[in-house]
Amino acid sequence: MIVYLNGKFLPLEEAHISVLDRGFIFADGVYEVIPVYGRQLFRLTEHLQRLENSLNSIKLPNPLTQQQWIEILETVIAKNTGENQSIYLQITRGPAKRDHNFPEQSVPTVFVMSDELKPASPSTGVKAITCNDTRWQNCDIKSIALLANILLRRQAIEAGAVEAILIRDGYVMEGSASNVFVVIDGIAITPPKSQFILPGITRDLIIEAMQTAYLPCKEADISVEQLESATEIWVTSSTKEILPVIQLDEKTVGTGKPGVVWSQVWEIYQNYKQKLYS
Ligand code: PDD
Repeated sequence: MIVYLNGKFLPLEEAHISVLDRGFIFADGVYEVIPVYGRQLFRLTEHLQRLENSLNSIKLPNPLTQQQWIEILETVIAKNTGENQSIYLQITRGPAKRDHNFPEQSVPTVFVMSDELKPASPSTGVKAITCNDTRWQNCDIKSIALLANILLRRQAIEAGAVEAILIRDGYVMEGSASNVFVVIDGIAITPPKSQFILPGITRDLIIEAMQTAYLPCKEADISVEQLESATEIWVTSSTKEILPVIQLDEKTVGTGKPGVVWSQVWEIYQNYKQKLYS
């Protein structure tokens, strides 16, 4: 695998950073995961805009221009195999003497790698559990500090599930690494954007695609009771796409099979992807 690190394209084994990197010491950095279909970056403008927002939130100037980002990302794609790839990029505040206060001038570490993109087969659906949202109050920043998310995901895995749906004060926020949609009375609902959820690119695309297709979809708060009574639940992300949840905790969701609204939206999503590179 060829990766990008601080101006160079290198084999993964040759990419090294300082142990004093603030990403390593403090998780002081942000990231993006961008899907690539047919060797084309998917929703790139939106991902770069969210990256800009995350960098602004942590007071770290973007070290690269939009054009430089595009060149680096396209080179990483070209240097790796696979029609479909998952591009991971990370920017940290770089190496510095350990101090909670960050230096005014630091040289950020910029890292990009590619992984294979293989969304789980959605035809059978998956299990999810509900968990108390133990994360901080800046979940809209795509921060590399993910310990709470990791522990919540682990809780799901140990319960034989693939995702944890996070509840804060009786309301659904999102998954440990995904956004959540429910279907109630035929209407798809997802929580509104706030400091408590990551503004998912997949989420936004689903809303946009459903509106274009005149399928009912809205952004509204979802209580735990509504979650439990939903006929469909989906978790969405750049790597999962739109994954139907057919079991929530110990209860069957809807008919226990991926729902009819999900199958319509899934097809629209697949067609949208197809158009990108056909
Ligand atoms: N995570 N919410 C959280 C907490 C996430 O980590 C993610 C994605 C999403 C969905 O965002 P998007 O649709 O832009 O992928 C929502 C990525 C895939 C990850 O951490 O690997």
